Amino acid sequence: MATDILDLVSAYVTLKKKGQNQFGLCPFHNEKSPSFSINQDKQIFHCFGCGAGGNVFTFLMRHEGIGFPEAVKLLAGRANIDLEWEERDEGQAKQNEALYHICEFAMDWFQQNLFASTGEEALKYFQSRGLSVENMKAFGLGYATHDWDGLIQQAGKTANDVDTLVAAGLALQKEGGKCYDRFRERIMFPIKNLSGRVVAFGGRVMKEQPKSPKYINSPETPVYEKSKILYGLFQNRDDIRRQDKAIFVEGYMDLLSLLANGIGNVVATSGTALTQEQAALIRRYTRHVVLMYDSDTAGAAASIRGADVLVENDVEVYIATLPDGHDPDSFVREFGQEKLLDRVSNAKHLFDYKLTLLLQIAPEKREEGVQSLLASVARVKDRIQRSMVVSDIAERLHVNEKDLWAELQKVLQQQARKDARLAGMSTAPKPGKQTKSEKAVDDLVRILLHDWSTSELIFDHFDLKVGEGHYLLPVLDFHKNQQRGGRQPTQIEIVQRFNDVRISEFIVQELARERPDLDAEKWAEDCILTIRKEQLQQEIAAVREQLKACGGEADVRRSLLSRCMALENEKSTLSLSLNKAT
Ligand code: UTP
Ligand code: MN
Repeated sequence: MATDILDLVSAYVTLKKKGQNQFGLCPFHNEKSPSFSINQDKQIFHCFGCGAGGNVFTFLMRHEGIGFPEAVKLLAGRANIDLEWEERDEGQAKQNEALYHICEFAMDWFQQNLFASTGEEALKYFQSRGLSVENMKAFGLGYATHDWDGLIQQAGKTANDVDTLVAAGLALQKEGGKCYDRFRERIMFPIKNLSGRVVAFGGRVMKEQPKSPKYINSPETPVYEKSKILYGLFQNRDDIRRQDKAIFVEGYMDLLSLLANGIGNVVATSGTALTQEQAALIRRYTRHVVLMYDSDTAGAAASIRGADVLVENDVEVYIATLPDGHDPDSFVREFGQEKLLDRVSNAKHLFDYKLTLLLQIAPEKREEGVQSLLASVARVKDRIQRSMVVSDIAERLHVNEKDLWAELQKVLQQQARKDARLAGMSTAPKPGKQTKSEKAVDDLVRILLHDWSTSELIFDHFDLKVGEGHYLLPVLDFHKNQQRGGRQPTQIEIVQRFNDVRISEFIVQELARERPDLDAEKWAEDCILTIRKEQLQQEIAAVREQLKACGGEADVRRSLLSRCMALENEKSTLSLSLNKAT
């Protein structure tokens, strides 16, 4: 497969050449200085921070959370059918351009309407909600008239075709083929991506009616993925960066109302749950977020859910509360900018907020709250910070810090399992969790990778069946075949051969390491002995069980006893026999 790892990874990570390797920020864990590297000669990636490593396939598998077959397909698409790929890409790029263009066109038209006589009522409505013309222009607000095909008509005049309007979600096609505008008689909020291009709209009725929803929104299109957009981020990002803080509100109107009151470091989540992508987006501008959602219970629940996603992305989360019945818009309009900013600066750190809620509950009913709190704490990646938080919580809840740590460990393990499941793979066993002989199998692979001269000794004495079930067995099997065929595999061959994420990672980590300063032959012998010993021990234990169970039958007993002795004997003379053979 002809995909170069550097080409592939540069599509995901910004890389800089340093010496032999290319370095960048690791996409598999949060970090501030680059420890993720690409070695083009070996065609591998490796992170010195989190240990992730592998080849082109396993990079894609991990990054996209897909299996090997899908990764192959993706790469085949890139490598072999280059021409087709580019054409397809170009076709897509052309279509996207058309979508951007039509959205821009629609925004212009809605804006024209707002400031024409047909938009009089809409303009008054915005003004009644405290927005200035300047605010309206800054956010491209507009008005869609009541005609069922106003936008379609307008587009027709300027040679924009209806198909593109439909593709952009601005028009809908009826069964007979006739098309009509999606947004009619609504005030319009254009939604921009981070390049400042309009990709979608929200439209609000001016008078709330039971029949029609208050807002309707554009559907997803090739240029509009809801999970990757934060409303207002494009317009407000400089302010957010300058203040090193972002206020998250739920509604378009909340954001605009704060803006009208001189508060510009705001984004709106548009009433949906926060996503990983949105958290990663805001993280580019600041790591301080104040959640200011509606004061109702739905708002509070949304804060808590969104908070964990942010914490996980290394963002400090604060929760600002509002008096009952208020949202940020109504609050700032009733009490003014200063009072709202007070709420922002008095916002409680997420852990504090959860703790306070917890302390209001009777101690014996706190279980669920403690779990929720620990779930947030477990998302903190920085260990020092995490342990400070744990001490603090223990003190304020008057519980033993050790117990809290034990609970946290459980939550961490649950999360690790869940994350691994989500990523579609299981993690390699932690060294501490392995049996001696499992660790010895690891070591045998290690030794082979660094000292091929031991291969004969290893494969003469190590029975691969004994390692059955060990995740590195395929590596030993491959090496054995090579050794029996009289050749030594190269590092690149080994790295490129295994496309199991765990195996690939093990190999890359090992090759990145210095050759251990040990007598390789002696070490290999020890490993083989350890494995054989553990196997004998298991066999002996099994025979003993049988002995216990067999009751009085003399014949059976006798044969079991002699088998047991033979095994014991083998175990005690084990080292000798191996030494003799070498
Ligand atoms: P809100 O009802 O709080 O809206 O919903 P708002 O923006 O504050 O509007 P006003 O104050 O009533 O004018 C929050 C967000 O949820 C989404 C919109 O993005 C809205 O801004 N939403 C709400 C919908 O998509 N559809 C709806 O019917 C309602
Ligand atoms: Mn509102």
